[in-house]
Amino acid sequence: MRQDYLDEYFSLLRFPSVSTDASFADKVKQCADWLAKKLKSLQLEVDVVPTPGHPVVWARNKHKSGRRTVLIYGHYDVQPPDPLELWTSPPFEPVLKDGYVYARGATDNKGQIFAHILGVQESIEANGDLPVNLHFVIEGEEEIGSGNLPPFLKSHQSDLKCDVVVVSDTGMIAQRTPTLSYALRGVTALELKVTGPKIDLHSGIYGGSVANPAEALARLLTSLHDREGRIAIPGFYDDVAPLQDWERAAWKKLPVNADEEVLKETGAPELFGEAGYTTLERIWARPTAEINGLGGGYQGPGTKTVIPSKTMAKLTFRLVPNQSAERVVELAKKHLEKNKPPGVTLEMEGGHNGPWYLTDPNSQYAQAAQRALRKTFDRDVALIREGGSIPIVSDFRNILGVETLLLGLALPNCRAHSPNENFPVENFEAGIRMNRAVLQELAA
Ligand code: BES
Ligand code: MN
Repeated sequence: MRQDYLDEYFSLLRFPSVSTDASFADKVKQCADWLAKKLKSLQLEVDVVPTPGHPVVWARNKHKSGRRTVLIYGHYDVQPPDPLELWTSPPFEPVLKDGYVYARGATDNKGQIFAHILGVQESIEANGDLPVNLHFVIEGEEEIGSGNLPPFLKSHQSDLKCDVVVVSDTGMIAQRTPTLSYALRGVTALELKVTGPKIDLHSGIYGGSVANPAEALARLLTSLHDREGRIAIPGFYDDVAPLQDWERAAWKKLPVNADEEVLKETGAPELFGEAGYTTLERIWARPTAEINGLGGGYQGPGTKTVIPSKTMAKLTFRLVPNQSAERVVELAKKHLEKNKPPGVTLEMEGGHNGPWYLTDPNSQYAQAAQRALRKTFDRDVALIREGGSIPIVSDFRNILGVETLLLGLALPNCRAHSPNENFPVENFEAGIRMNRAVLQELAA
């Protein structure tokens, strides 16, 4: 690994480009400017395009007629690093240890997008040009739902005309196992606020005379599932497309023991999920309802005898083909409204959402991607779906009319979104080679 590659990668990782927290906005902007400078040094034409949120970094080479046009998408924003005390080294001070780089964003997505940038740099250094017309679109709001990116795509629709999109922001099923993902789950958010008395009350003076909002919230939350792990919202599964037979068969043959891996990586005491499905099927092809955050009442040391005035929960649903986020939120609201216990008020507010994506793993371009993966890793390619979401991918189809090749480099133990996120230097290197191979194959 060239030292200058690692130095630059570390510089990129040092920006705390946390998109969800407004107090980091300056750092997010500085990160965009750093990327723009790097891309300019490759003789690309670069714009840092402002949006109502964080800017989009857009770079392209000189386009020539008769060549394929490839759009490489990635994101330079990261998830918040907390809880900080669980990091063995500070999240924005990258370190290299035993072949792994540790930092927030090491995998998701700075390491992966920077490998593409360096692949492009190498091709230009070696050949003076790229084999394709290229766009880089690197945004700063993926981790908050990419709300400002569709307008960017629409307003530059003709300039961004391309044949295919390449994204490395998904996983590999195991180290050195090349992986092409042909589906993503969607995601949609819903926040609940349950309010009872106007202030926190003495639970001795008033307890028994008014409803407790924490209990009401608990009841609402437990109404979301049955005991078998199925979602109990009426109509929730109506639009869910069943797994295809070939997928169920192929996933059984993948060289991973998902049950063992999930137990090991999560540390959960046992597996739990929807009855009738394997772990991989549950993660990749079945929808979920998750409570991401829960609050209200006294959280400090010791006891405090109060009835809280307000409680809240943050929910997200992971969606699969052919569910619609709007319909799911509507069904969930109706169900929760109906199950609201007496004596409290319930407010519900939808948040960001990203649709699911499903594409053909054997299309002409996907075959080119499979060849590039085989060349890069010298192994058979695993075809998988993903449990995570990349909201903009469905818009590449809807707005630009093109399919996306998901060539992920993240490992199952990369700890994306968790403390001690990491990326093996080996994968960083492989990403550089993969970029060169995929542009080559797509050009042919
Ligand atoms: N890289 C992930 C998406 C991902 C994770 C794909 C794992 C495949 C496997 C991406 O950066 C991400 O975390 N997306 C968010 C989107 C959301 C905040 C709208 C997600 O999935 O939670
Ligand atoms: Mn992420």
